[in-house]
Amino acid sequence: MNQPLVKIQGVYKDYPLPKKYLFQKAPVFHALNGVNLEVNKGTSFGIVGESGCGKSTLARIVMALDKPTAGKVCFEGRDLFNLPAARLRHLRRNFQMVFQDPYGSLNPRKKVLGIVAEPLDTLEDPLSFAEKKDRVGQILVEVGLNTTDMNKFPHEFSGGQRQRIAIARALITRPSLIVADEAVSSLDVSVQAQVLNLMMDLQEKYKLTYIFISHDLSVVEYVTDQVAVIYMGQIVEQGATKDLFQRPRHPYTQTLLRAVPDVNPLTKKQKNRDRIPLFEKNHDSCPFLDRCNRATKQCVDNAPKLRENQGQWVACFNAR
Ligand SMILES: Nc1ncnc2c1ncn2[C@@H]1O[C@H](COP(=O)(O)OP(=O)(O)O)[C@@H](O)[C@H]1O
Ligand SMILES: [Mg+2]
Repeated sequence: MNQPLVKIQGVYKDYPLPKKYLFQKAPVFHALNGVNLEVNKGTSFGIVGESGCGKSTLARIVMALDKPTAGKVCFEGRDLFNLPAARLRHLRRNFQMVFQDPYGSLNPRKKVLGIVAEPLDTLEDPLSFAEKKDRVGQILVEVGLNTTDMNKFPHEFSGGQRQRIAIARALITRPSLIVADEAVSSLDVSVQAQVLNLMMDLQEKYKLTYIFISHDLSVVEYVTDQVAVIYMGQIVEQGATKDLFQRPRHPYTQTLLRAVPDVNPLTKKQKNRDRIPLFEKNHDSCPFLDRCNRATKQCVDNAPKLRENQGQWVACFNAR
């Protein structure tokens, strides 16, 4: 059967906010507002959007590290939040995560062997120490490090090498899905390219599926097949990466793309100098209303839903 590897259906996530008054109903912050996504096996799916739009919240929910307020996440057709704890524990070997900060995400007191071998503890049949060591040695070579590096501590490595260690740890259980949340964002540009190339080689070799999260559009354009643009916890545009970058239709995606610096003065993109009409935003309005230069009365009264337009999904009444 050709089912998607990951299916996210109507996911909402609310975070409680502090009360301002004693008898006030506890206010909440809507970090995710009804996200639907399907990620097919062997593909790379990009998620972009500015800081605070809900990307990491979505990543944690897909990894079953956090529960959604509503909605469900299916992995290979199994509803992650409706599984017995032991089943979920065993399923975890199939999806792993690589985090942004290579300095914060590796335990400084553990040697590389212990760090990389850690996810193996979730396996149904535990491995012997010798088997673990073997596997760690192999995977370190796969990510471009040396077998002997397993006896070192994280501080002995550079940022790029640490991210290779994090990738080795994610790969050790031979997962089918890797969620990379800003995985190269803290690295220098040249090191970024090396780590991205490694990830793409590993994808081909192990038939991996990636969910690639980044605020950096050029990274997502480089590595993904499909991309979803998130604004305030909602997908506002989605489609094939090539098409979406060539022809963004949602005004927010266009703003994001215009914000990418262009160093060539001859091709400098036109700055966004359009006047933004002033509309009062209300509960029903389009979330992008107060930043949009294309807004009309319709956008004040209704939030547009995602609609297909030549293979691209756009949530905008005035998409071009
Ligand atoms: N545990 C939490 N409690 C309250 N608010 C949170 C929590 N985690 C995230 N948020 C808020 O949710 C929003 C989305 O956060 P996040 O998913 O980390 O964004 P991104 O990864 O896109 O930068 C942010 O406004 C953030 O402040
Ligand atoms: Mg984040």
